[in-house]
Amino acid sequence: MAEDLQIHSGTKAEQYSSLLPQIKGLLEGENDLIANTANVVAALKEQFGWFWVGFYFVKNDELVLGPFQGPVACTRIKKGRGVCGSSWAQQQTLIVPDVEKFPGHIACSSLSKSEIVVPVIRNKEVVAVLDVDSDAYDQFDTTDQQFLEEMVSLVNF
Ligand code: SME
Repeated sequence: MAEDLQIHSGTKAEQYSSLLPQIKGLLEGENDLIANTANVVAALKEQFGWFWVGFYFVKNDELVLGPFQGPVACTRIKKGRGVCGSSWAQQQTLIVPDVEKFPGHIACSSLSKSEIVVPVIRNKEVVAVLDVDSDAYDQFDTTDQQFLEEMVSLVNF
């Protein structure tokens, strides 16, 4: 496995398309959850330069902060709270073009302006969420949703 990530420019879909096989390579032969989720967020951060990228893991009745890249963040989120807790409760990806307009949004940083949260579902249960924040408005769409959902499906939870 090569540990150097090849960064590609181009459309968002092209960037994801070059990243996906590299992430598959990074995950190959490794089944440690922390190692794999850490590499996924690092690869996403390196390719896209987003403000914050990280996983929250479902532990008992809360989401607990996992591997991330970006500024320090809140450590625990209740089910149904904020974008992350809502994605968990609704078992679906949430795209938020303007976080200030999302009722109950949890502002870990005032610099975060838009967000996408993708639930990781195994055996019909949410086991984690992937949270991506941008410091610009309206940065995420169904292309991000499609590729990020595919990416989290690769991780062995
Ligand atoms: N904004 C998220 C909280 C997590 S931070 O953005 C890293 C939310 O509303 O759930």
